[in-house]
Amino acid sequence: MKTAIIGGTGLASLAETATPLAAPETPYGEAVTPWTCEEFPNALFINRHADGHTLLPHEINYRANLWMLRELGAQAVVAVLTVGGIARTLNNGDFVLPRQIIDYTWGRAHTFSSGGPSGKVYHADFTEPFSPALRSQLAASARAVDVDFHDGGVYGCTQGPRLETAAEIDRMERDGCTVVGMTAMPEAALARELQMPYAGLCLVVNPAAGRSPATERMEEIVVADMRKVAKAMRPQLLRVLQRLGETI
Ligand code: HPA
Repeated sequence: MKTAIIGGTGLASLAETATPLAAPETPYGEAVTPWTCEEFPNALFINRHADGHTLLPHEINYRANLWMLRELGAQAVVAVLTVGGIARTLNNGDFVLPRQIIDYTWGRAHTFSSGGPSGKVYHADFTEPFSPALRSQLAASARAVDVDFHDGGVYGCTQGPRLETAAEIDRMERDGCTVVGMTAMPEAALARELQMPYAGLCLVVNPAAGRSPATERMEEIVVADMRKVAKAMRPQLLRVLQRLGETI
């Protein structure tokens, strides 16, 4: 099965061996450049932030990206998502396979029902936003290559690009969120509208606002530190994805 892997900075090193493909036009505008690489024969990659990380989470054309991936034959989507840890059981460097999503984003083009050619009205069931079957395959791949992960959790998707206030994180925790990121929505919902199984693999790269071990210090969140953690997780991430590619 051809699997699309949507990543951000966590996959950048692979790009050294990448072969870029021409991105087909989509009725929803321009998608980012897709690429393949030899080590992952059945995978199709995109960096949702585009080369050079130029697109902010609310600027990403999620619709064009998903539409293009389907046009190129992708039958499933694995989303690599960097997140801040809200649950106190999470540490930097942990992997999480969330089961649920709460969407706090606004103003993003979030459905294929409007502004395109389909004329179709989608009321997609989203009870389980991540495909249980694909989640299980990801979990099995992680176990097979000895990568520990937290099985379950709730991904709260914020608008960004600023990080959250400590009070916002407190509210998200009361809502039930265990991790916070900015990109799983509307990506997951659009994949569902296209009936493409979608699963998220989260990389915890910082404690969420007000959740640093020394919380009383309200430690500042530094993006360069988040990048360092993501980079350190890359070998494990690639092992999981490679295994998934061999088994899916
Ligand atoms: N908040 C939102 N998005 C994120 C964070 C965060 O703390 N860390 C990585 N992506």
